[in-house]
Amino acid sequence: MKRYEDKVVLVTGTASGMGKAAAIRLAEEGAKVVLGDVNEEGNQATAAEIDAAGGVCRAVTFNAMEEESCKALVQSAVDTFGQLDVVVNAAGIAGFYHLEELTSDIFNRIMNINLNSTFIICREAIPHLRKTKGNIINFASLNAKVMTAYQTAYCASKAAVAAITKCMAQEFEADGIRANVVCPGGIATPLVKNIRFPENINKRLLANLYPLSRQGQPEEVAALVAFLGSSEASYINGEDIFIDGGSRSAM
Ligand SMILES: NC(=O)c1ccc[n+]([C@@H]2O[C@H](COP(=O)([O-])OP(=O)(O)OC[C@H]3O[C@@H](n4cnc5c(N)ncnc54)[C@H](O)[C@@H]3O)[C@@H](O)[C@H]2O)c1
Repeated sequence: MKRYEDKVVLVTGTASGMGKAAAIRLAEEGAKVVLGDVNEEGNQATAAEIDAAGGVCRAVTFNAMEEESCKALVQSAVDTFGQLDVVVNAAGIAGFYHLEELTSDIFNRIMNINLNSTFIICREAIPHLRKTKGNIINFASLNAKVMTAYQTAYCASKAAVAAITKCMAQEFEADGIRANVVCPGGIATPLVKNIRFPENINKRLLANLYPLSRQGQPEEVAALVAFLGSSEASYINGEDIFIDGGSRSAM
């Protein structure tokens, strides 16, 4: 029997990178998957890939910046497939800024997409997860623990994602709901490829950003997500699990 047979999983950030890889992997393992992303075209392309492989999914366009959109995403998962077993919050953005150039608009945008949407989606999902004794997997980052110059907003958002996830793990443990944090580092995705550094940075401060010989692949992270969300991980709760090829231990 497949690990996700009869399970409904909501994944955000499914138009590319690790959210996409996780959605495809979970569908392969039998889950009915709801795909949430602001990039409609990319999201539809992921849905088409899952369909072509014989999986079951529904693509929903949503904007993590907007509370109502986050709420509607959760509701549409339940309306479409009748239940919710696992929520994977992978939508996110990154950015390097000199602190003096980090406007409140940019700061708030990073916090809204990375942190606030994660909080809102989890809050809206809890009543449904209570019924299924489901679980939550939130994407933080190596930067939830290792703080980097020029990444004030990103590091703050990811440390907070780890914090709120652990609070949820405590609060809902007695309801049979687990909540864990995936902390990737150096995964080959468009997010990393498109990183631009501001001018006049002190390169010495970023010297150990990528200490390893290779980048990780989104599919390697998807394998971790599929394990964590399954009943095989039934006693793993409130953990942040680093998947960085050893970067953290080299820092
Ligand atoms: N790639 C890495 O090495 C790395 C390291 C640490 C943490 N992360 C985290 O992993 C998660 C996935 O990142 P990735 O590397 O796969 O990046 P990615 O850019 O490939 O995917 C991110 C997805 O989020 C979506 N998204 C962005 N803004 C959105 C919004 N307003 N509403 C809805 N969707 C939105 C994008 O359209 C995209 O599909 C992110 O939370 C990221 O911060 C990545």
